[in-house]
Amino acid sequence: MTFDSEIAPLRNQSLEQLDRASLIHPFTNLRAYAAGDAGDPRIVTGGKGAWIRDQNGREILDAFAGLYCVNVGYGRTEIADAIAEQAHKLAYYHAYAGSSNEPAIRLADKMLSMAPAGMQRVYFGLSGSDANETQVKLVWYYNNVLGRPEKKKIISRRRGYHGGTIISGALTGLNVYHAGFDLPYGPIRHTTAPHHYWEAEAGMSEQEFSVRCAEDLERMILEEGPDTVAAFIGEPVLGTGGIVPPPAGYWEAIQAVLHKYDILLIADEVVTGFGRIGANFGSDVYGIRPDLITVAKGLTSAYLPLSAVIVGERVWEVLQKGQDHYGPFSHGYTYSAHPVCAAAGLANLELIEREDIMGNVQSVGPYLLESLRAAFAHHPKVGEVRGVGMLAAIEFVDDKDRKVRFDPAEKIGARVSAACAERGLLARGMPGGDILGFAPPLVLTRDDVDTIVARVGGALATVFPNA
Ligand SMILES: Cc1ncc(COP(=O)(O)O)c(C=O)c1O
Repeated sequence: MTFDSEIAPLRNQSLEQLDRASLIHPFTNLRAYAAGDAGDPRIVTGGKGAWIRDQNGREILDAFAGLYCVNVGYGRTEIADAIAEQAHKLAYYHAYAGSSNEPAIRLADKMLSMAPAGMQRVYFGLSGSDANETQVKLVWYYNNVLGRPEKKKIISRRRGYHGGTIISGALTGLNVYHAGFDLPYGPIRHTTAPHHYWEAEAGMSEQEFSVRCAEDLERMILEEGPDTVAAFIGEPVLGTGGIVPPPAGYWEAIQAVLHKYDILLIADEVVTGFGRIGANFGSDVYGIRPDLITVAKGLTSAYLPLSAVIVGERVWEVLQKGQDHYGPFSHGYTYSAHPVCAAAGLANLELIEREDIMGNVQSVGPYLLESLRAAFAHHPKVGEVRGVGMLAAIEFVDDKDRKVRFDPAEKIGARVSAACAERGLLARGMPGGDILGFAPPLVLTRDDVDTIVARVGGALATVFPNA
């Protein structure tokens, strides 16, 4: 009774008030938000294609596909139906010790048929973060089985984003994700960010910069001792670190170094997997030959949570030998290979094929980038407009000729993003600079692109009235 009367007043509150009184939101100023000083929550109630609707019935163009994940767009009944059908048939069974279920089997098979050459097996998780935790465990296990217990360090990159759990968070090379959390760097090292605009010396070509990135990596490996370095992890295109396509020749130069020192390559394709840059995998686009691949987001277009580690032959062979040392492979989650999530994944991948959604990326993606370039590259406060496939970013600088950033206290990126939102456009203010990011649903239309450009134009006129 006491319990009921305690919560009764909450029932008379608006959804906005209840939200403030009950939820902890990621990446939010907690006190200001709870106190109502950060405005009302945007409560999303529905969506279709690239558009969502909020609690006030306002239609908003979601140019970030949620968190670059709703790849086939909102409101796809095909996926909703597949989820319902599977939930009615079999809502759950685990995958431990040889148990299995049909959607997980068919999805793993489908993923292997789409994956780069040499991929052998799929291990399912639920988030990109947990999949990267699995990656690190696999890499450590691999070297233990091979009798190289000292070969354990993982090299990531500054500006890389690999998740928010303990090891995945430590792999992430953006300070904001570390502040206050004491994430253990332990065996994690960060090398040069492949960001030509900021990291290359004046006059250096992309090719020359790529060679320098590879030299920096090799120096780090030699300083650490090659026998202590197990793996390198990287996103084919830097995502959260600023949406930065790799400089020409980057992956070729990096892979040569990894090969020289017998270091495994983990391609984190959580953003780039399943069509975002117009191919099944970013690895296909950049000639990356990974030993291990991480996928999530676009695997189900976020209709349900699902991630996976795709294991290549070199690692798979050694994993099998593990049973002679350690018995069963003792890694797993209750929800690994969840049948309903797998059914969502299958329906999603079928839809991508049936509607040739990658074809849309190949035509509308370049139109997005060219339109943003045409409209904003000459703006006095725009340092760079970049992108690939259905990914794009505008980076703002205070002094374009001398490449000087804005004072972070001005929060330019966040202000531009907020000004876009006021105009009914969601584009993300990315961490690590004043960067407006675009990663819309892959079904974006040319009309949607024109709307994006018009609304960004209006936002820039507000934030830079004298430019
Ligand atoms: C490249 C990359 N890896 C891993 C993750 C973490 O995925 P999740 O948020 O599902 O844990 C993300 C999320 O944005 C990502 O972009």
